[in-house]
Amino acid sequence: MSIPVTLIPGDGIGPEVVNAAVEAIEAAGARLEWERVAAGAGAVPTHGTPIPPGTLDSIRRNKLALKGPLATPIGEGFRSVNVALRKEFDLYANVRPARSFAGVETRYTGVDLVVIRENTQGLYSGVEHYIDEERTAAESISIITRKGSERIVEYAFDYCKANKRRRLTLVHKANILKCTSGLFLDTGRAIASKHPGIEFREMIVDNCAMQLVKNPAQFDVIVTTNLFGDILSDLTSGLIGGLGLTAGANIGKNAALFEAVHGTAPDIAGKGIANPTAVMLAGVMLLEHIGERTAAERLVTAIRETIASKEAVTPDLGGSASTRMFTNAVLKRLK
Ligand SMILES: NC(=O)c1ccc[n+]([C@@H]2O[C@H](COP(=O)([O-])OP(=O)(O)OC[C@H]3O[C@@H](n4cnc5c(N)ncnc54)[C@H](O)[C@@H]3O)[C@@H](O)[C@H]2O)c1
Repeated sequence: MSIPVTLIPGDGIGPEVVNAAVEAIEAAGARLEWERVAAGAGAVPTHGTPIPPGTLDSIRRNKLALKGPLATPIGEGFRSVNVALRKEFDLYANVRPARSFAGVETRYTGVDLVVIRENTQGLYSGVEHYIDEERTAAESISIITRKGSERIVEYAFDYCKANKRRRLTLVHKANILKCTSGLFLDTGRAIASKHPGIEFREMIVDNCAMQLVKNPAQFDVIVTTNLFGDILSDLTSGLIGGLGLTAGANIGKNAALFEAVHGTAPDIAGKGIANPTAVMLAGVMLLEHIGERTAAERLVTAIRETIASKEAVTPDLGGSASTRMFTNAVLKRLK
């Protein structure tokens, strides 16, 4: 029996990379049934809203979604659909692995770490407003709760155990943000005392950014608040070759949504040269989540072998292949 999955092609390069990923996931042997729905800027002209109710219904029903990037206007216009989806389905854990690829030249080899980001609270929630009519000042409200901190740190420890990871680094800014970041840190410390099998350390976020660039091998799993996780996970993506290579899972108790870490890449949209690896790897994470381990393993192996062979890599990795050519090379390995 095939498993229904909500499919959101998204904006910009979204449809190009999502369609490529669907072909690869199917060729890997997964039994999925795609329910294609709209969201993002592209949904506004047709549905009058960037989050059509039918899209929410589909995710609610299927509890599983694969999503392309969605455009969020800068400084004005509608609020982030990504943030709204994470809140609507309480997708509190954002898991972003970064593992080096053979064949991709970077500053370091052997990077293998995971950023686990709290996905529903903190500054990233965008709870803010101008405080005067002239717009001379604005304020932002960051809410961190003990319950929200507990469940993400517990998730991070569980993730370490399930994935044989040994060291968890909690990243914070409690020296300055004594209440919000302080609450996150205190909660993390209390939970750490219940997990003696995992080495627990804490690090201030600015130092963490420097340490990641200088010596990424010291990190295994990082757990942090929403905005810090957003920024640090793009940094870790850069360590392994860029945004075209990194996927993320948004996990909640009642739904899970898988996507690339990257955005709509307006500079290359429509040119047919986007790297579909990140969404393909989001597909791998989805397959692992639903227990389709054989298909997940086949797909990740085909992607990694294709990149290592350098026979058809896209321009972001220094090649000249199109999205189509790269996808064909992955499909060839899956046949
Ligand atoms: N999860 C999401 O839906 C998501 C995430 C980040 C940004 N966004 C949105 O995307 C839009 C553009 O954001 P941005 O320009 O800051 O970030 P971006 O990730 O779209 O692009 C940053 C750079 O990385 C390159 N890049 C990204 N993905 C690539 C791929 N698959 N292959 C090759 N190169 C790739 C782009 O060409 C660009 O040079 C904004 O509206 C933003 O809100 C959405």
